[in-house]
Amino acid sequence: MQSLITGIKPTGKIHLGNYFGAFKPAFEFQKDYQSYIFLANLHALNQVQNGKELKETSFDLCANLISLGLDTEKSHFFLQSDVPEHAELCWILSTICSFGVLERAHAWKDFKNKGLKDPKLGLFSYPVLMAADILLYNVDIVPVGKDQKQHVEIARDLAHKFNGIYGDTFILPTPVIQKEVETITGIDGQKMSKSYNNIIAIFEDENLIKKSIMKIQTDSLPVDAVKDPNTCNIFQIYKHMANKEELDNFKDKYLAGGLSYGEAKNTLFDKFMIYFKEARTKKAKLMEKPDQIYEILEQGKQQAKKRAQTTLNLVKEKTGLTL
Ligand code: ADP
Ligand code: TRP
Repeated sequence: MQSLITGIKPTGKIHLGNYFGAFKPAFEFQKDYQSYIFLANLHALNQVQNGKELKETSFDLCANLISLGLDTEKSHFFLQSDVPEHAELCWILSTICSFGVLERAHAWKDFKNKGLKDPKLGLFSYPVLMAADILLYNVDIVPVGKDQKQHVEIARDLAHKFNGIYGDTFILPTPVIQKEVETITGIDGQKMSKSYNNIIAIFEDENLIKKSIMKIQTDSLPVDAVKDPNTCNIFQIYKHMANKEELDNFKDKYLAGGLSYGEAKNTLFDKFMIYFKEARTKKAKLMEKPDQIYEILEQGKQQAKKRAQTTLNLVKEKTGLTL
């Protein structure tokens, strides 16, 4: 059976962009691939430097992912920090990774372009840790959002380079990006992102979800006017949750005239609440039994460790680290 890995940073609230752009496509692969899914908490230290906050966000994210469709029977779900082999392989890969590659990595370039002060080594070497995350499991594919493509390519290049120096060791991983959900737009029409403050968070209080939806930016066409669903931010978000018939109906309303944006927002809100009802209910139940989550992570850790140690032993053998 082919395998996959994907990681998610516990750095904030899960929003529609994360779900439709990254998690949902990854969860769909679970039935056909041996899946390793982990909380990238070592990566998160670049952004969250408050122990209590990181613990809470991590636990919450575990509950969210399980509620949204991470199948813990089929996938191994674990914390990155529970498998120290990630950090060990990261060091070994850093000895073959060129400085220039990291200087061209977009997370680093964004940081520099924003002119932020005091850049940290952890951010600069982030793609090396991500390469270790991936190569440690010798997987075939890595389902990610579009913005992570470059990082997976760096992992692929490092695997190739390592194999060239030490002989065949790593499978070259392939990033898998679903074209139609490449970029989910936020309430302002830009890419939905925590950093732009334009998100609709999935497990938020119902009133706050309504508030975010009511803030979606639209043009100022009058109610009677015929409207274009393809340029309307409400429709662009709605389309990810609706089936064909619902989409056609909604589209017809835009094209017939007489649809107010207020009504369109209510339609989106109702759809959202129905679409995520099951996940929201599941999460509420899960939070009453936190031990279940710890148990899942413990099992995931055992399985992940097995695979990681096999790869790392081979790497140590090839590099001469074992005598
Ligand atoms: P954010 O931009 O809110 O900080 P992250 O960087 O934590 O989100 O992204 C986690 C995952 O979700 C990544 O794989 C990323 O590609 C995906 N993702 C985030 N926002 C979007 C979006 N608006 N459209 C598609 N995918 C997204
Ligand atoms: N860098 C990814 C993000 O920001 C998270 C991540 C870390 C990851 N390691 C990974 C994703 C390995 C896939 C595979 O979303």
